[in-house]
Amino acid sequence: MKTLEYRHALRRSATLLAVVALSLVLLAGLTGILLSFYYEPTARGAFESLREITEILANGGLIRSLHALAGNGLIVVALLQIVVLFLGRQFCSAWLAAWISGIFYTLVAIGLSWTAIILDWDQVGYWRFKLELKTIESIPLIGSELRDILTGGNGINSVTVEHMYTLHSYVLSAIAFVLAVVHLGALIYQERQVKHNFQGEAGGVKAPIEVS
Ligand code: HEM
Repeated sequence: MKTLEYRHALRRSATLLAVVALSLVLLAGLTGILLSFYYEPTARGAFESLREITEILANGGLIRSLHALAGNGLIVVALLQIVVLFLGRQFCSAWLAAWISGIFYTLVAIGLSWTAIILDWDQVGYWRFKLELKTIESIPLIGSELRDILTGGNGINSVTVEHMYTLHSYVLSAIAFVLAVVHLGALIYQERQVKHNFQGEAGGVKAPIEVS
């Protein structure tokens, strides 16, 4: 049987990780917007514009590094959060909301990292993307449609960079923000619910059922 202190520590850690995750999403969003002022989402311009951001613009390298750090850090925090939430699982709606939003924002964080592989238009990104497209293509029924949606239908070119950039900077980053807010909200609500139930327990109301 797990101790109450252990459960409390897990709940607190989950809330803390959710705060860190939301901060990372905001940092990645902010630095992403700053990058977008100078980034050119085309096959010709992407590599050159990022080189200019890093080498010529004041603090451009710092902003690019902060963006990469926040984006990759988000994946680490999200994976850690899944473990913490699993260990502290309990039968209540707030935990379930936190669990579901946590799983989805982990997937979205991985998606954000994946959609970025072609954005800098370097050799590694290009060939990695080409290889992974083969895997996508092999998905039964929807594989080739999905490949065309991602690439634009004519191989890997400027349209591909535009599509991936749109998915990355508008679609997935907005979803990540919404999920991170819902996730933190659910965990704060869970803390309040548990506190309320324990106060109520002294007055005869039962505490939430916890899974051991
Ligand atoms: C939740 C928000 C976001 C997350 C988690 C995120 C995550 C990432 C990650 C992991 C990378 C790859 C960095 C690397 O390892 O080199 C990346 C690259 C990039 N992102 Fe984002 N991103 C976010 C929002 C945005 C937004 C809003 C924009 C633009 C409006 C943007 C523009 C870019 C660009 C241009 C790159 C390529 C830069 C490079 O290769 O250094 N991102 N992003």
